[in-house]
Amino acid sequence: MIGIVDSFLPLVDDHLSFLAGVIKKNPNEPIFLIGPKMEEMATIVGELQKLIGRFSNVSIISSSRAKKYSFTTLYCSQKKMAESFRADHIVVRTSLASKREKVSSGASFHAPISMLEAMADQELFFCHDIRSAMSKERYGHTVSVAKTARAIAESHGIDGRKAFLAGMLHDVAKDMPKDRQRKMVHRYFPRYEFYPGFSLHQFASRIVAESKFHLRDREILSAIQWHCTGKGRMTPLEIIVYVADKCEPTRPFPTKEIEREAHHDLLSAFRMVLRDQIRYLRRHNIDYHTNASSIAMFHHYLGEDAECH
Ligand SMILES: [Fe+2]
Ligand SMILES: [Fe+2]
Repeated sequence: MIGIVDSFLPLVDDHLSFLAGVIKKNPNEPIFLIGPKMEEMATIVGELQKLIGRFSNVSIISSSRAKKYSFTTLYCSQKKMAESFRADHIVVRTSLASKREKVSSGASFHAPISMLEAMADQELFFCHDIRSAMSKERYGHTVSVAKTARAIAESHGIDGRKAFLAGMLHDVAKDMPKDRQRKMVHRYFPRYEFYPGFSLHQFASRIVAESKFHLRDREILSAIQWHCTGKGRMTPLEIIVYVADKCEPTRPFPTKEIEREAHHDLLSAFRMVLRDQIRYLRRHNIDYHTNASSIAMFHHYLGEDAECH
C-alpha cells in the first residue's frame, strides 16, 4: 500500500508526471493520495486519468484517516510531515527545482539508509540519473551490488551507507562508449590511460561520481575507482565493493557461498573471488597480467598461489 502526501497545488507538470509514474509502476498496488482537501484530490485524479487513461487502484483519503493505515512506501515533500504517518519506507520528494538542487549538492546522499534503498528501488533523485546512464539490466546489477555491499559492510561494523553509495555508482560510466571513457582517463588519470578497455570504466565512473554527482567522500571514490582491477593494498571498503560486484545474487553463476563467507570472513571471501577469477582466466587462456594493479592485487592477497592456481 503506497501513500503520497503532499500539497499538490499548484499542480505542475512535474507533480502529474511523478504521480503518473508511481501509478504506472505499481498497477496492482493500492495507492492513496493523502491531503486535506478532497476536491483538490479529485481534480488531480481526473487530470491523471486524462494523462494515462483509467486506473482503479488510486483512492483519495484525508490525512487524519491515513494515519490509521500502514504504508509500504510513503512519498512526502517534508520529512517532518512524513514522520507522523506509519510507513516502512519514507521517501522525501521535493519539487523538481529543489530536486536539482539536492542532486547538485549531493544532499540526497545523506538521507537515512532505508530511504537510500527506497530511492534506488523507485529510481528517484540521484538514482534516477544513475538509471538514465545505463541499461535496465545493469541498473538491476547496480542496485544488487549496493544492497549486497551494504549488508556485508554492516556485518563487519563498516559504514553501510558508504558501501551502498559506492555500489550505486561503481558502474555508472560502464555504458559510455569506450573512446569517451579513455578520453576521460587520459585527462584525469593519464597513468592509467593504457589500461585494458574492460577496466577503464572504473576510472570513468569515479570521475562521473565526482563531477556529475558531486560525491566528495574519498573512501567511496576510491572503492569505485578500484572495483574492477583491484590494487596492491586495499581498504576493507574497497574489498567489500570488489567482492559484492562478484557475488551479488543477480549474477548468472553460483554466488551464495562467497556471499555467506563475506559476512563471516571478508578476506577469505576476497581470496575465494580472486582464485575463481584466476581459474576462469586460465580456462579461457587469458593472461591475468593485463595491468600492474591487478598483478599487485593477486600477488599481495594470494602470494605464491597467484601463479599456481
Ligand atoms: Fe564494473
Ligand atoms: Fe559491476
